[in-house]
Amino acid sequence: MSHKINFDEPIPDLVERLKKEHRQFELKLAELETIATVNNQSMGILEELSEPILRHAVEEEAIIMRVIMHKAREQAEESIKIAQEHNWIMEFFKHKLPQMTTTMPQQQAKQELTQFIQNLRTHFSEEEEIMFPLAIKASSLQRQ
Ligand SMILES: [Fe+2]
Ligand SMILES: [Fe+2]
Repeated sequence: MSHKINFDEPIPDLVERLKKEHRQFELKLAELETIATVNNQSMGILEELSEPILRHAVEEEAIIMRVIMHKAREQAEESIKIAQEHNWIMEFFKHKLPQMTTTMPQQQAKQELTQFIQNLRTHFSEEEEIMFPLAIKASSLQRQ
C-alpha cells in the first residue's frame, strides 16, 4: 500500500475521520444492496471499495491498535478480536471477490455478498462502540 501513515494526527481527529469513512463505506454498502444479483455493477462498486477499506484497516491496526497496546493493554482483549476481523475482510477482497463472477454459482455469490455486508456493518459498529473509545481514552493517558 503506497499511502503513508500519518502518526502525527491526533487520535480523536483520526477517530472522527475513520467514522466518516465508515459512513462513506455504508453508502456504498446500501447501494450494493439495491442490486438484485452479483453483476458487473456490484463488482465495480466492490472494486472501488477494496483499496479504501484495506487502507482504512491498516490505519486502525498501525495507529488505533498501537495506542491501545501501548497504553491500555489490560483492556485490549476485545479490541484485538475486532482488529482480527480484518483477516476476513482481506480474505473477501483477495480471494472471494475474484471468484464471485467466475467460478462461484450466482446464488452463492449473492449470499456471500449479503453476509459480507452484514459482517462489515457489525465490524464498524464494534469499532465505534469499543475500539475507538478505548483508543481515545488510551491516548489521553500519560505514558508510564
Ligand atoms: Fe476495521
Ligand atoms: Fe473501521
